[in-house]
Amino acid sequence: MQLIKVEDKLAGSLEGLKIIETAIKNGEVKTLGLATGSTPETLYAEFIKSDVDTSGITTVNLDEYVGLAADDPNSYHYYMNDLLFSKKQFKESFLPDGLAEDAEAECARYEDILKAHPVDIQILGIGTNGHIGFNEPGTAFDSLTHKVVLTESTREANKIYFEKEEDVPTHAYSMGIKSIMNAKEIILFAFGKSKAEAIKATVNGPVDVACPASALQNHPNVTIIVDNEAASLL
Ligand code: GLP
Repeated sequence: MQLIKVEDKLAGSLEGLKIIETAIKNGEVKTLGLATGSTPETLYAEFIKSDVDTSGITTVNLDEYVGLAADDPNSYHYYMNDLLFSKKQFKESFLPDGLAEDAEAECARYEDILKAHPVDIQILGIGTNGHIGFNEPGTAFDSLTHKVVLTESTREANKIYFEKEEDVPTHAYSMGIKSIMNAKEIILFAFGKSKAEAIKATVNGPVDVACPASALQNHPNVTIIVDNEAASLL
């Protein structure tokens, strides 16, 4: 694991963007793995200002809420369209379908997409409980794309985006930990004090399902970009 410590979210996003841009310019990125949440917002804002050509790049996202349509303002489809896809051209973009009728078939479809488009660089945020994608503590490290029951802490953390607490979905589709680990390179971003415990467990803790992100210790090419607050317990 390579650790890059930065002053703040903007500096961290620019560090990450530098890695992504260089890899794209070197022709090393056919497929880019994307994440949602507040963490990558600045990265995407800087990405759309960059002149790097992404028109030949396919994107795949980590996850999507079950029950939300692509045009629902709280869906991850909507987030991605709003912050990135409407402003920068990609070849094609995939996310799980929150409205899929058959959950098992949807997970299999998504794994087929990942097989056809192996991820060259995967961007990750991290939950305060160490989750990556929506892989909550306890998720098996050999998990593939699956339907997830969201924990109360995750629903609580995400409720700021919803009008009413009961609107926060109870389930999501998420790439599994194995699906994420299949990426050739991973860049995990963490900013703010609320991520300090999770970063400590990710970097220094045992590799254990109690902290899903600790699986990254076994990946050959991971960069963790943290601000001073997220790094404060290291
Ligand atoms: C959500 C997403 C994750 C994200 C995490 C952290 O649950 N599924 O992909 O990394 O929360 O979110 P934030 O970046 O808003 O702190």
